[in-house]
Amino acid sequence: MENNKWWKETVVYQIYPRSFQDTNGDGIGDLKGIISRLDYLAELGIGAIWLSPVCKSPQDDNGYDISDYQDIDPMFGSLEDIELLINESKKRNIRIVMDLVLNHSSDEHPWFLEAKKGKDNPYYDYYVWRDGVEGTPPNDLRSCFGGSAWEWVPELGQYYLHLFSVRQPDLNWDNPKVRQEIYDMINWWMDKGVGGFRLDVIDLIAKEPDRKITANGPKLHTYIQELSRETFQKGDLLTVGETWGATPEIAKLYSNPDGSEFSMVFQFEHIMLDEQEGKGKWDLAPLDFLKLKQVLSKWQTELKGEAWNSLFWNNHDLPRIVSRWGNDGEYRVESAKMLATLLHGMQGTPYIYQGEELGMTNVRYPLEDFRDIELLNLYKERIESGYAHEEIMESIYAKGRDNARTPMQWDASEHAGFTAGQPWIRVNPNYTEINAAGELENPDSIFHYYKKLIRLRKEYNVIVYGEYKLLFPEDRELFGYIRTLGETTLLVLCNFYGNNVSFEMPEELAGEKELLISNYSDEASGGSLRPYEARMYLLK
Ligand code: GLC
Ligand code: CA
Repeated sequence: MENNKWWKETVVYQIYPRSFQDTNGDGIGDLKGIISRLDYLAELGIGAIWLSPVCKSPQDDNGYDISDYQDIDPMFGSLEDIELLINESKKRNIRIVMDLVLNHSSDEHPWFLEAKKGKDNPYYDYYVWRDGVEGTPPNDLRSCFGGSAWEWVPELGQYYLHLFSVRQPDLNWDNPKVRQEIYDMINWWMDKGVGGFRLDVIDLIAKEPDRKITANGPKLHTYIQELSRETFQKGDLLTVGETWGATPEIAKLYSNPDGSEFSMVFQFEHIMLDEQEGKGKWDLAPLDFLKLKQVLSKWQTELKGEAWNSLFWNNHDLPRIVSRWGNDGEYRVESAKMLATLLHGMQGTPYIYQGEELGMTNVRYPLEDFRDIELLNLYKERIESGYAHEEIMESIYAKGRDNARTPMQWDASEHAGFTAGQPWIRVNPNYTEINAAGELENPDSIFHYYKKLIRLRKEYNVIVYGEYKLLFPEDRELFGYIRTLGETTLLVLCNFYGNNVSFEMPEELAGEKELLISNYSDEASGGSLRPYEARMYLLK
């Protein structure tokens, strides 16, 4: 059996603060808003909140550009508010997981303002500078948000590296002073009683830009081990790295059970299955369902006993799963519950992204209603290189990050109860039908279904620790698997599509079963599943 850890047994809820709950009418969510909704989260049953960045920031990338790691942006509140949030959460057995953005800072961070002053400034070496000739950057490295990753600073006659926006200069992890500043800052947060950290694009910190290495640089794990030793290992924390470039082999380093790096990582292999091969997320392709089964199963079996999975469909960078791989029309409720069952039955720590528990959907807004820097850059770049407007918009509707960032839909009142003012981004017009108040009232709602899945995880150890085995690997509609722990077997059957499917139950699973949860109220005739039907059984 695996080592028991609180973070293996909990369910995490991600909050994107600017879109969660506004309390002062400025149209932007704030910490007081989160505090006011803690009872809602406690009712859902989650044990931790991952808070997207709330530190001081010019908000070029909605807080992923930090200008003071030890202060709260006034837009979100104050240090007092975060302390109150930590304490109020604790009373409800909820821990706060902060988002650490350590690959880059904001260009308004005092370190960068100093660094720009001259090569002999003590902060110069906090960032990554290279020579070049004006107009000709050191090399053709590209920013994840489009364009060159190098920006010219005339005062210095040099370029600095920015793997994201120009306003997010990359920190130089090769400088021990930078690393020490970071450790001191993390320890300061640990002293405030936080429950853990999510580490933004952490696989980029050991870049070697001259060799055009960005992810998984040779010194990456040396740096992470030092980071972990100097900080996290002094507490009992949940730590999760965002690692787009992880394979199971790499994940076993990050999430080594000896605790030398992180608790777990977010891997994105399944997330990249509906894009054209060798291209990025904007070049759409249909989901290869067999591949999805194969990839998720690979991560389940390969990490078993050697690392720990995180389970997620959604976050603030991804489109809404019910619109993406479910059906946000006729079968919205069924498919949202099916996708939840599929994920929450697996081994790993499940993450729920705000609104997922309501079955919130993607949006199709005109361009001027979108706000995200990545999406707006993409549009500009593609229009300039000759793409048709309609084609770009289809990519944006399918993959744009603002799909996840529309305000949380609390009730059917104006602006969905998110704000009394003008929301910073338009509310999804379907809020009158899809909202938390309605979900709470209806015992068959998606919310109550998630609540039950979370409860089952607490009740049945097999869901946390059981060994995974895929069933029906070749079936093109059915996703089925079992989990076993000692004498206990859990069976999960999910119809991923809108047609009826029939199947033959393997003999060893044919015996008597107790139904733990299902998204249909009545039992289907044996050996078939209705559209998006999901069933979770305990074998007797
Ligand atoms: C991560 C964040 C994303 C951000 C980027 C740069 O991918 O999740 O929102 O834009 O890092 O910090
Ligand atoms: Ca506000």
